[in-house]
Amino acid sequence: MALSSGPAGSNPISGKASFSGNSGYQYAIVHQDQKLFLEFRKTDKTERRELAYFVGSGATARSYLISIDGFLYEAPATYYSRPRTWSLSPGYDRYSYPFLTRAIAPACLQCHATGVQPVQGTQNGFQSPPFLESGVGCERCHGPGAAHAASGKSKDIVNPASLPAEQRDSVCAQCHLSGEIRVERAGKSMLDFTASDKLSDYAVAFVRATPGMKVTSHVENLAQSSCSRGSGNRLWCGTCHDPHFVPSPTEKAAWFRSKCETCHAASECQRGENCIGCHMPSSSVIDADHVVYTDHSIPRRSVTRNQKPSADAPLVAFGGAPSDPRDQGLAYAIVALREQNAAYGARAFDLLREAERRNPDDPQTLSYLADLYKTRKDDRNAALLYERLHTVDPTQSSAPMNLGANQMEQGHYEQAIQLFKEALRISPALVLVRLNLAVALVHEGRKAEARSVLEKALEFNPSFKAARDLLDQIR
Ligand code: HEC
Ligand code: HEC
Ligand code: HEC
Ligand code: HEC
Ligand code: HEC
Ligand code: HEC
Repeated sequence: MALSSGPAGSNPISGKASFSGNSGYQYAIVHQDQKLFLEFRKTDKTERRELAYFVGSGATARSYLISIDGFLYEAPATYYSRPRTWSLSPGYDRYSYPFLTRAIAPACLQCHATGVQPVQGTQNGFQSPPFLESGVGCERCHGPGAAHAASGKSKDIVNPASLPAEQRDSVCAQCHLSGEIRVERAGKSMLDFTASDKLSDYAVAFVRATPGMKVTSHVENLAQSSCSRGSGNRLWCGTCHDPHFVPSPTEKAAWFRSKCETCHAASECQRGENCIGCHMPSSSVIDADHVVYTDHSIPRRSVTRNQKPSADAPLVAFGGAPSDPRDQGLAYAIVALREQNAAYGARAFDLLREAERRNPDDPQTLSYLADLYKTRKDDRNAALLYERLHTVDPTQSSAPMNLGANQMEQGHYEQAIQLFKEALRISPALVLVRLNLAVALVHEGRKAEARSVLEKALEFNPSFKAARDLLDQIR
């Protein structure tokens, strides 16, 4: 966990590697002057971006982040450890060009690094450096250390193992419980979570309620085990794992057996010494981003549980955590968007309308509900909500982006320009907004400005034809 992020150049895993992407793009990883670069080329012109940070220790895979003007994006290249090769990042084969604009939200670094420093009011802007400490630092599990450092007393630091069960489990679950989707509670941010807090006060994880449930994290998996259900609150992650020590391959069987034997007598099963070899086998339950290898449901017999869950199974709060129409509506809306799931979209619409009646000023509700009105071609209601969103929370790019487009349609170019610029301050990689902005600027006779806006759009997407055409036209 301590090695789960850091500056990329400090810890390169390979000198040079190349692979082919979609539509004839060639990629290469180049290590030069303590720095790591991604190069890509289709015909003759080679483009290059620095890989500034890595995420993931590389036990299974390592992702990389590109930094443009202090904003972070996931690189299209990932290192995969098992085959020891570089290749396109998971899901990136759906793009026919080097996709450079997947914004890195603070949540990503909040699970993989310590002391994350987002720039308020932006989607993916970070201070320099974006995190103060690489990997999962002591304070993430032990809480703030200053008082303890001053006194040297153990009562001044959190020992996760001695917390009440819910708080204890929350220490690991803050990062290890992802569910199908995790929604932050109204007005709460996981950036404020500290060890000894309850995760359920900050966020709620939703899972699909269906047999053969797709398991997306170790926490869910363990909760399904007979061991966990049969032993009340006694079994937790720390029963088997010591975060300060990872047993070597030769020690592994004995280490984990000793943990089983804190509850099970040797007479219960005499089929062999390597308990985990039979009861915690490696499986391949795969979700969109992460892979769970070891079966934490501790079955009697190894089972294959990677059936696809039914796409319209209800989303329920994990562990019976309380949730309201806002939390549920956001969960359905986000998954609906991710999966193009119309049934979930319809549920989200009903729930979020109820949520909006209860709290007309919650920014997340307004943002997703407005988007849903828009997909339903109800532009009037969408605009009303975007306007309210713009007033209550000026840090959501969807409001100025959509309001700007409305202004432009009505021929109000000056207002559109202001709104588009506002959206781009929050989220600079919105290339379509850049194109619209350039069109509005050209209309107002501000060609030089339009040119630099388009050049930036091409930095984010070098194969953005409409931007290139307009640029040629202006020139
Ligand atoms: C701040 C987030 C965070 C917290 C808190 C956290 N983990 Fe992790 N953990 C991770 C990440 C990220 C990885 C993957 C590391 C990698 O390979 O990049 C990981 C990996 C692991 C692994 C795999 C082996 C290893 O050490 O890399 C174990 C076991 C583990 N965590 C157990 C725990 C337990 C037990 C707790 C609670 C006491 C806990 N984690 C708390 C983020 C966290
Ligand atoms: C809710 C916390 C959480 C978030 C958000 C999260 N991760 Fe992870 N990630 C983990 C944990 C925990 C693991 C360890 C294995 C597991 O549980 O799947 C992990 C594993 C990984 C690995 C494999 C590491 C290895 O070699 O074992 C990579 C790569 C990775 N994450 C990248 C990312 C990136 C990139 C983002 C953001 C775009 C991200 N993760 C967001 C918690 C998180
Ligand atoms: C992923 C979570 C995690 C991280 C990160 C972590 N610890 Fe721990 N630490 C624990 C847990 C859980 C225990 C309790 C083990 C037990 O008692 O079974 C513990 C116990 C300890 C203890 C013994 C406390 C006592 O009262 O016996 C010390 C000392 C300690 N950790 C120091 C550190 C330091 C220093 C770091 C950073 C280098 C660190 N820990 C990082 C989870 C973590
Ligand atoms: C905190 C105590 C605890 C620990 C640690 C523990 N178990 Fe269990 N386990 C239980 C309880 C309680 C049951 C349920 C017994 C019952 O229902 O009769 C159980 C049930 C089981 C079952 C039967 C599963 C089923 O579906 O019927 C297996 C197999 C098992 N444990 C294996 C293990 C292995 C292997 C380990 C170590 C990797 C382990 N357990 C660690 C408490 C524990
Ligand atoms: C009953 C024992 C046991 C408990 C309890 C347990 N684990 Fe594990 N865990 C294992 C074993 C065994 C492995 C495989 C270790 C290996 O192969 O090196 C493992 C591996 C892991 C890994 C590495 C990735 C993988 O899937 O192989 C992570 C991450 C992890 N556990 C997280 C957790 C978290 C989080 C919890 C609490 C929700 C937890 N574990 C509770 C036994 C346990
Ligand atoms: C070679 C594979 C293997 C090994 C090694 C193994 N088990 Fe089992 N275990 C099984 C099988 C198979 C069953 C019975 C399944 C059945 O009857 O449905 C079982 C059953 C169990 C049960 C349920 C007992 C009951 O009668 O309900 C427990 C608990 C258990 N094992 C724990 C352990 C522990 C602890 C270890 C390590 C000391 C261990 N097993 C080692 C294969 C193994």
